[in-house]
Amino acid sequence: MTIRLKKQVIEIFKILQEKDKKIIASELAEDLDIDYIVLMSAINDLIDKSLGNFEEREIFQVSLTEEGQDYLENGLPERQLIELLLKEDRKEIDLEEFLEKSHLEKSLFYIGISNLKKNRWIAQSKASGENKLFLIAEEFPITKLEEFLDKFKKQPKLNVEDLSKQDLKQIDVLNKRKLINKTQKTQRIIYLTEKGKKIDVNEIEELEQVSKITSEMLTSEKWKKVELKPFDVTKPGPLLKAGKIHPIINLINEIREVFLSMGFTEIRGPIVESAFFNFDALFQPQDHPARELQDTFYLNNPKEAKLPERKLINAVKNTHENGGDSGSIGWRYKWEEKVAKQTVLRTHTTATTVRRLAQYYYENGKKPIKVFSVDRVFRNERVDKSHLAEFTQIEGIVIDDNVNLCDLIGLLSEFYQKLGFSKIVTRPGFFPYTEPSMEVSVYFDKLGEWLEMGGSGIFRPEVTYPFGIKEPTRVLAWGQGLERIAMLYYNRNDIRDFYVNPIKWLRHQSYLK
Ligand code: PHE
Repeated sequence: MTIRLKKQVIEIFKILQEKDKKIIASELAEDLDIDYIVLMSAINDLIDKSLGNFEEREIFQVSLTEEGQDYLENGLPERQLIELLLKEDRKEIDLEEFLEKSHLEKSLFYIGISNLKKNRWIAQSKASGENKLFLIAEEFPITKLEEFLDKFKKQPKLNVEDLSKQDLKQIDVLNKRKLINKTQKTQRIIYLTEKGKKIDVNEIEELEQVSKITSEMLTSEKWKKVELKPFDVTKPGPLLKAGKIHPIINLINEIREVFLSMGFTEIRGPIVESAFFNFDALFQPQDHPARELQDTFYLNNPKEAKLPERKLINAVKNTHENGGDSGSIGWRYKWEEKVAKQTVLRTHTTATTVRRLAQYYYENGKKPIKVFSVDRVFRNERVDKSHLAEFTQIEGIVIDDNVNLCDLIGLLSEFYQKLGFSKIVTRPGFFPYTEPSMEVSVYFDKLGEWLEMGGSGIFRPEVTYPFGIKEPTRVLAWGQGLERIAMLYYNRNDIRDFYVNPIKWLRHQSYLK
């Protein structure tokens, strides 16, 4: 069977065959100028093919301490002292004077003196109160210790195993003088097996490694000869940047599901709306502050909206002026059709549900009606982290006999529960078109806070009567902010993120919802 190895492994194999002996892995790596890891992985490939192997051994090494290094460069203290005497051509010297001239630290000076004495190079005299040193030798040859120290010039680390008995004695001396460090490490010795020694390198084929198989490789059958690089499954894969559904759309779809599961039907209405449906039909008087420019975007084109049939217009007009047949006394002013014809970007989707009331008028009391809409609305707002000029409302109405506030609270509770918010609270509120009116807040666990979500209530007779919806039939209505829910849902604290679209955040959204 042919043996296949990577090119680099073959190179290393050749070298091992040439050297024909056990080799220290770290030294070979240095010689070949390759990474130790690369070398060992090559050896592993050889082990796989039973061509090579390695063994481990503990080795003890010695190196110089900082002080030892200093002496290697400048000489041992005893050498420095003797040089000084020779330079000054002195045969004798006072101890104190010598210390001063030597510029050595006191302790080192005395170590030097004591070694000079040991070498029998100097003698000390303390006779008649003096303390003098005399040269007593003629020559001062390199000592065995100095000879040994010199070895560190070539090799900063010496293997204890390679040292002679003599050397070991010097190690002892250096050790006592605290001039060496001893270290221990594991060395790997690599070698070829019998099989590896015998095999002819030319019999080994070069193995090509590829990271993927191409169609070309398949047709040429080259794939049989190549090796697929293994995958490291712990490495993170590249980030997929495929298109995905925007988080807001995901949420809208989920809300749709919730309403559909509760038996509601979706309705949609125009974005460009008449003031009639946006305001008048909701019993908002024509001088109501909400209608003003600072809140509402009026349009020049189209300048005028089409109104519904005359009968409905008149019913709304009468309600505003005198209450019509609703039992109310109305707002008591002169209602102008011209004002109702103004075009606006709808400020709430209640305009859309009121359109549904108008449609009801023609349906001859078909009941019940449960509709919802999730759609864009526009307000002349200053944009900041919690306000948008363009946002989305979740709107709904239920038209049925004798539905009441409890039904409304129940509906809203169920809706929020299905979205994952288990606690809601309602408080009295005010809207010109509902009575009673309620503000809805949900409890947000993560913040431990109640957050206001929007309004709701039962449409006033002034709203329902013009469209023929009269006692006992009632209309429950609500309008909630979608982006508010989105902030909680996606844990964003800047509402603008949904439209500014921070790319980093979007990339980390899931593909499936
Ligand atoms: N239209 C109201 C708003 O925009 C919400 C609302 C809808 C209130 C229906 C009561 C009934 O805030």
